[in-house]
Amino acid sequence: MREHGVQYESWGPLSRGGQGFFDNSVLTDTARTHDKSVAQIALRWLVQQEIVVIPESVRPERMAENLDVFDFQLTDDDMAKIAGLDTGRSQIFDHHDPAGVKWLGGVRFDT
Ligand SMILES: NC(=O)c1ccc[n+]([C@@H]2O[C@H](COP(=O)([O-])OP(=O)(O)OC[C@H]3O[C@@H](n4cnc5c(N)ncnc54)[C@H](OP(=O)(O)O)[C@@H]3O)[C@@H](O)[C@H]2O)c1
Repeated sequence: MREHGVQYESWGPLSRGGQGFFDNSVLTDTARTHDKSVAQIALRWLVQQEIVVIPESVRPERMAENLDVFDFQLTDDDMAKIAGLDTGRSQIFDHHDPAGVKWLGGVRFDT
């Protein structure tokens, strides 16, 4: 990606606020260790890998919380544990599902 000047961005960095995201025990344990919120742990995990995040919130206190991720660092162990949550499938949208791709881009597979 770097070679081609392409910047990674997380699509729905807080899992769109659902999917049991805020109750995940790896995230809640890590949040407790660092005295931060689950949202801050998730956002820090992304920015620490130089992935751009644009979390959405309609609440000013959460906007402030989501910006406050630059005064701590996750350990290599934290980073690996969180990476281990990857199931290989998107919680939001499956880009490998032909039906989803068809819906998103109007792609025709019969031509
Ligand atoms: N995912 C997509 O399909 C898509 C497509 C194009 C553009 N975008 C843009 O990408 C950005 C990401 O938005 P997104 O909605 O997809 O997902 P997101 O940022 O992962 O999640 C937003 C949800 O998380 C909640 N939230 C935000 N901060 C929180 C916190 N600190 N603690 C607890 N809950 C928190 C919000 O609720 P409250 O508002 O109640 O705080 C909202 O329900 C947005 O700017 C969006 O416009 C997304």
